[in-house]
Parts: sequence; structure tokens; C-alpha cells
Amino acid sequence: MKTHSLAVVPGDGIGPEVTEGALMALDAVADAEGFALEVTNYDLGANRYLRTGQVLTDDDLQRLSEHQAVLLGAVGDPRVPPGILEKGLLLRLRRELDLYVNLRPSRLLSGVNSVLSNADQLDVVIVRENTEGLYCGRGEVTDPGSSKEQATEVSLNTWPAVSRIVRYGYELAAKRKQSLTLVHKTNVLERAGSLYLRAISEIGGEFPGVQTAYQHIDAAALLMVTQPKRFRVVVTDNLFGDILSDLAAGLVGGIGFVGSANVHPGRVSMFEPVHGSAPDIAGTGLANPVGAILSAAMMLRHVGEEKGATRLERAVEAVAGKIAPDQLSTREASELIAEAAS
Ligand code: NAI
Ligand code: MG
Repeated sequence: MKTHSLAVVPGDGIGPEVTEGALMALDAVADAEGFALEVTNYDLGANRYLRTGQVLTDDDLQRLSEHQAVLLGAVGDPRVPPGILEKGLLLRLRRELDLYVNLRPSRLLSGVNSVLSNADQLDVVIVRENTEGLYCGRGEVTDPGSSKEQATEVSLNTWPAVSRIVRYGYELAAKRKQSLTLVHKTNVLERAGSLYLRAISEIGGEFPGVQTAYQHIDAAALLMVTQPKRFRVVVTDNLFGDILSDLAAGLVGGIGFVGSANVHPGRVSMFEPVHGSAPDIAGTGLANPVGAILSAAMMLRHVGEEKGATRLERAVEAVAGKIAPDQLSTREASELIAEAAS
């Protein structure tokens, strides 16, 4: 029997709750499709940090990188100053494992309500640059605490990173037979913008079958609400992708309904719901496990279990209408999906 080696980082807040749901669903798919998952749990996140002061050691990183995939719940805890876990764990993993694509698909599942009357037209995959931009960690604070305090955040954009994300976007658009929209702010951020435009013009030429469009980020936010069908594959930078994917998630029934993948094709990659640790609902059983379960489906596709991935996505689609927020507990929703996937 084919066995896949999976690292699981349940993390903080609702992370462990939705991860339990994802593992339940994965078990059902593995049984049905005849493969096995060898799961290793990693105690990373707020509790470990508060206990030991450690966020992610070199040894953790080495061990994680030896699996085929990492399934992550969420990190972030009100007891820990902002940034320590998010930057020390999540951003560091993305950078050190060179997970340069953040894939965030949003589509309205049948039976799920949206605030948007035409949300059934929304079917977008956001391809977010995941290693640079404003999240590169560079910058400085001068004269802290004084009346002259100045904070600088640097946005790093390199040709290797920009060209590979644009290429990934074109390959995906070609595979899906869809258009590609570059989203940026080239009229103001003209230095980074030019780099993206150059990549679009040089690499786009290799994909004559893919229609290319461009929108500034502010207009893109507007159009995603008013004309969602304009967007299919969106390539964008780290910050814009972060924000636009939350907007898209909000339009397809809420952030609990979307999964994501942090990918380096052919290498260990990490799969996590788009949402965070939601400390406001942790322990209440109200967390929607769908995002974590759809992330698990993306993980299956990454390790070559295409049929299993499709089976899991269909199971989610079949019962999503019953999982509208507050209708079912995390456990009940997970059981329903696992049953549909069996
Ligand atoms: P959040 O995504 O945790 O929560 C935003 C809102 O959505 C909250 O009202 C929450 O209750 C709701 N929500 C989130 N997931 C849900 C689910 N599965 N089902 C139902 N409702 C859900 O974002 P927030 O509040 O900004 O951040 C909380 C913590 O998570 C912070 O420490 C933040 O840094 C961290 N974070 C971690 C991420 C990760 O690990 N990938 C991503 C985003 C935030
Ligand atoms: Mg975010």
C-alpha cells in the first residue's frame, strides 16, 4: 500500500479543532482509496513557546522538511506578543522551505449562502507570491518612543521570485483554460510593478492561449464584489494576495470555507486553512472545518493522490449546505464530510 508521510502542526486556538476534522476526513479518504498516511504530530505554537521560549528550531525545520507535506491548523495566541509565532513559525516555514506559491482558491459551494447575490459567478484562484514583498521582514525603526519615531517596512521584489510566480500563474491558467489577471499597484509602486509587468510580458508570450488582464489592487477589490466573474487566475504579490484572498473568502460564505496551499512544486509543501487561530471562538465548537479539509484535499493532490483529492472535494461540496455557520459543531461537520468521503 502506498504510504505518504505527513507532518501535522495543529497549532493554536481553533487550529487543533479543525485539524482533527481534517485528519478524520483524510482517514476516510485513505480507506476508500487504499493508501495510508503516516502522521507525525509536531507540538509547535503558543504553548511550546510559553513553556520553552522556542518557536521553531533548526532541528524542527529539518524534521519537518523530511516529510512529503505539512498540514497546519493555525498559529497565533493572545498570550504571545503579535508577530512572534506568525513570523517565527509561519513566515519562517514559508521562507525556509521556499514555498513560493500561496494558492488560495475561492468558490461558492452549493447550498452555502453569500452576502453577494451573484457569488455563484465567483470562482477564483489567487496565486500569491509567498516569500518576498512587504513580508520579507526587512525594515527598521529609528528613534523609537520619541516624537521623531520612524518605521520603515521594505518590500523586496526580485526577478527570480517574480518570474517564477508569474510562470506558475500562467501554467495554472493554461491548465484551467482560464484568463490570468495580474493585480498590483503599478501606478504608484512603479519599481516593483515594472518587474511584474516585465514578467507578464516576457513569460505571457509563451502562453498564447491564456488571456491576460491587469487591475490595480483597489479596483480589483471593487470588481471582485461587483463583477466577480472577471477573475479566474489572479497573480499578485504577498500583501495584496493576503488581503484579496480574505475578501474572496468573505464572498463565498466566510473565511471558514476556504483552504490554501503553500507550495514548492515537487518538494515538501504546507497546507493550511486561510483563517487564523480565531481565539474568539476557540473551544466553543463553532469553528468551520471546511477550510482545513479543503486544504487537506490540496495536500492529497500534491502527494499524487488526485482521486483522493477529488473524492474529498466532492464530499465537501455534497454536504457544505448543511454546514452553514452555527448549524453544526466542528466535530459534527467533520463527521458528515468524512462519511460523505467514505
Ligand atoms: P482569524 O482568521 O483567526 O479570525 C477572523 C474572524 O473569523 C474571527 O471572527 C473568527 O472567529 C472567524 N473565523 C476564523 N476562522 C473561522 C472558522 N474556521 N470558522 C468560523 N469562524 C472563523 O483572524 P484574526 O482574528 O485576525 O487572527 C487571530 C490570530 O490568528 C492572530 O494571532 C493572527 O496573527 C493569527 N493568524 C494566523 C494565521 C495562520 O496561522 N495561518 C492566519 C491569520 C491570522
Ligand atoms: Mg491573511
